[in-house]
Amino acid sequence: MQDSEVAYLSFDQDQARTLAAASQHLAELGGPQARGVASQARQWAQRLHPTLDASQKAVLQRFADGQLSALMCSQMACPGSDPLPEHLPELATLAQSERCLYLASRNQLLLELVNYRAFAFDIDNEGQIMRLVGNFKGGGSVPRPDEHQHTEVELSSHAGLRLGPHTEAPYNCSVAASEGRSPAPSALILSARWNPAGEPTRIIPLRAIIEQLGSLHALALTSTSFDFTRSECFVAGQGEAGQATSMLQFDPDGGFSLRYNSYRFSLNDHASDAAARAFDAFQVLVRDAQPLAFVLQPDSALLINNCRALHGRDILQDNRRLLVRLFGYSRFARPIVLNDDPLLVRG
Ligand SMILES: [Fe+2]
Repeated sequence: MQDSEVAYLSFDQDQARTLAAASQHLAELGGPQARGVASQARQWAQRLHPTLDASQKAVLQRFADGQLSALMCSQMACPGSDPLPEHLPELATLAQSERCLYLASRNQLLLELVNYRAFAFDIDNEGQIMRLVGNFKGGGSVPRPDEHQHTEVELSSHAGLRLGPHTEAPYNCSVAASEGRSPAPSALILSARWNPAGEPTRIIPLRAIIEQLGSLHALALTSTSFDFTRSECFVAGQGEAGQATSMLQFDPDGGFSLRYNSYRFSLNDHASDAAARAFDAFQVLVRDAQPLAFVLQPDSALLINNCRALHGRDILQDNRRLLVRLFGYSRFARPIVLNDDPLLVRG
């Protein structure tokens, strides 16, 4: 089952050249945060698509239709050199850098190839579409030069701590907005600027786990029996913790949609015994699952279906590891749009 949940897409030299020229062009326009770049990315995707062969198109279509947990894209050479620094530069410097804008632009283009739109939540990542994933706040296996011992480190993608299996917040709903909140991202896409120690991103496809759970446990996970704590990357005062939410729902596009975070979810005080047993059984299956490991480098990018797979990573070994992440909404998602271009939605 796991094999059919993950697919691989590599580009030939001509396609890779077009992808590089397109990414460069989008980066020069300012990258995903600049007005007008989303439509340019869509146009580049429309130009690239006819150059793909039937099997490449089929794999992209499977992801677009919500049928894959992950799609690993490879053989996308980056132009020029990008030497590994001695230490990870400051976040603000990186956010302005050409190479990060290039990788973010390429991610946006790859999202467009599966008919997804890159977006940001108003309450998360300062409302910015590009998220730089790296150890800016400490907590890795080696302390940062400015890191003080005994200070508590936030559990987010701006720290070096282990991040147990999770889907991306928010956790209130999937697919369609509910009670004034937009749904969780349909997908995320990650690429690496630097990953000198080859540290993997780990994926756990959920379909096999739900099938192993059995029908009654799965049904119990659809009840509003679960609480979650607030994400530490949210803007201060926004995106409060949630109570009595469900984890699983039926979804006609992809079959199901699941929301879960191994370090934020717990059982609600009023949950039934049946829900408690289902939650325990689910957590045991996740704990015992053998995750699939993907080592990202600048020539690759990983699309992860956020309704169908958990992702996570171990404590960071090399503090220079830097990933570039974007969120995407599928054509099925119905968020609350605050701004069309660049796409900003209410979290
Ligand atoms: Fe994550």
